[in-house]
Amino acid sequence: MSRRPVNPTRRFGETGGVPLSGSLHQKSRPSPLLTIGLILLGTFLLIAYSYRGTGGFSSDKEALNKVEGDLSCTSEVQRAIPVLKKVYGDSMHKVLHMGPETCTVVSLLLKEEDTEAWGVEPYDIEDADSSCKSLIRKGIVRVADIKFPLPYKPKSFSLVIVSEALDYLSPRYLNKTLPDLVRVSRDGLVIFAGYPGQQKAKTAEFSKFGRPAKLRSSSWWIKYFVQNHFEENEVASKKFEQTASKRSYKPSCQVFHLSSYH
Ligand SMILES: *[C@@H]1O[C@H](CO)[C@@H](O)[C@H](O)[C@H]1NC(C)=O
Repeated sequence: MSRRPVNPTRRFGETGGVPLSGSLHQKSRPSPLLTIGLILLGTFLLIAYSYRGTGGFSSDKEALNKVEGDLSCTSEVQRAIPVLKKVYGDSMHKVLHMGPETCTVVSLLLKEEDTEAWGVEPYDIEDADSSCKSLIRKGIVRVADIKFPLPYKPKSFSLVIVSEALDYLSPRYLNKTLPDLVRVSRDGLVIFAGYPGQQKAKTAEFSKFGRPAKLRSSSWWIKYFVQNHFEENEVASKKFEQTASKRSYKPSCQVFHLSSYH
């Protein structure tokens, strides 16, 4: 949490202090009323600023997420939700998301109309906030080792979205986990995978997971899908591309659309 996009102290100096003192000096003989007014205004600005400061944490955090979002495919899922809704329509009713920070994605999905959502969090989360803890308590989010079969019946979810998690699996485990994700989906599986160029930043960010991501090229993925008989959901892929370009949305991760088993 050391990267801070803005420096609040400097911003205060620029917006709050300078114009006020400037206007004070311009008036040679400010009337008492004006002085009181200015003092009140100054106090008000100070209070407003300090509120901003505390409330501002969330906006700082948002900005921070945006910065980190460039590196994380889970944040990319959050940005892609409107496009996915457009592409998958009714299939967004019952969504399973698997990936780090799934609580954030699940909470966001739950805010959408007519959307139920569940999550699988692949890593231990010590710093889960209270709303995440509550999702876990309710069984909506599970913390699970994704190398083992998912405890869901076939076609339990209309759509399954996985982000980042697959980047950490060797082909041996991909062979187990990917079919299982397809198995529990009814109308498709969406995969968000990192681009090989994102390696460095990711390794630093996710060092706590013990192993670096193996970021693969799209040709690696496509070859893998073909060799292992995963079927591309061409309709969804095309619609995703069209919708994304119409909205000038450029995902910073590779997005693949696979069909569910018939
Ligand atoms: C994964 O499965 C495919 C066949 O479905 C097989 O050819 C390949 O060797 C497997 N990879 C590993 C690492 O087990």
